Amino acid sequence: MSEVRELDFGGRVAIVTGAGQGMGREHAVMLASRGAKVVVNDINSNRAEETVKTITDAGGTAVPDSHDIVTKSADLVQNAIDSFGGLDIVVNNAGINAYGRFWEMDRDLWWKVFDTSFRGVVEVSRSAMPHLIESGSGRLINISSNALMGLPNDTSYAAAKAAVWGLGNSLAGEARDVGVQVTTLLPVAWTPMTEEAFGDPLIQQVMRDHFPSSSVSAFVTWLAHQDTTVHGETFEIAGISAARTAFSAMPRMQVTEPSPEVWAANAANLTKPGELTPLLKASDSFRAQVVYLAPEMDSQLPADAADVSSN
Ligand SMILES: NC(=O)c1ccc[n+]([C@@H]2O[C@H](COP(=O)([O-])OP(=O)(O)OC[C@H]3O[C@@H](n4cnc5c(N)ncnc54)[C@H](O)[C@@H]3O)[C@@H](O)[C@H]2O)c1
Repeated sequence: MSEVRELDFGGRVAIVTGAGQGMGREHAVMLASRGAKVVVNDINSNRAEETVKTITDAGGTAVPDSHDIVTKSADLVQNAIDSFGGLDIVVNNAGINAYGRFWEMDRDLWWKVFDTSFRGVVEVSRSAMPHLIESGSGRLINISSNALMGLPNDTSYAAAKAAVWGLGNSLAGEARDVGVQVTTLLPVAWTPMTEEAFGDPLIQQVMRDHFPSSSVSAFVTWLAHQDTTVHGETFEIAGISAARTAFSAMPRMQVTEPSPEVWAANAANLTKPGELTPLLKASDSFRAQVVYLAPEMDSQLPADAADVSSN
């Protein structure tokens, strides 16, 4: 077996949000163990300090940061600049959850979950982007969730995580031009969050046995590295297994005329199973729609036909 060389970050600077416990803590510890200087952000300052102590006790470099990602992202990024002179990596990990029926959940709580889990990612990314561009090997890793596919009694969190995914896919198209790599992860791990969510002892045991946080950290640390060239992708990551994840469409169908009655008559046809076509961005979907109805356009339509210009 060939020897695996340890990835070395050579003093590159990383921010990990929500790094006081759970997955974020392990991401920070693993990045630091490979030579990254880490800003350990968590709104719970005691927990941030504890993670920093773990890192520095092991000989690594880290500073604590307890700014709220939603309202104080500029101060968080400034902490990285003041402490370490630059910023190369952001892991947008912090997120919160709350459960309940959509129509019964307290309105302020619903929006707090959405704001922390989505607006926090937007604000930190916005503040970080100029520095990630300046880095020359900027890495932005956004933590979404399988919940984006639909999770009853978790509408706010699921909507926020879908928004994180949409943001990352779109931002990746812009960031490619400025040398910043963007990836989105849908992780699974045994953490305080999942401990609260899953009461069933059997599920708890499976999670404990197969899905330690550090497994997700290994994937995050690989993605964050300056030699990793993955860009604009989404991955599910759970334990030692991962899957590239993409929006897909079932076989397209057409009706004889656009009337509601004709669609009603074709409902079964529309929902029947069949081979999937991966759609990695909106332009892929637009292209498939056009070529289905106007096959002669296949050779004329550019791959990015539906992309909009920044002007
Ligand atoms: N655990 C899972 O299986 C799982 C699955 C899918 C997605 N995720 C996502 O992964 C990420 C980490 O999950 P976890 O299970 O480790 O969570 P966790 O609840 O164990 O830890 C989240 C940390 O974020 C911090 N935080 C909350 N609000 C903050 C804010 N405004 N500013 C700064 N820090 C804040 C909390 O204090 C906490 O320490 C989250 O985004 C979560 O939604 C987790």
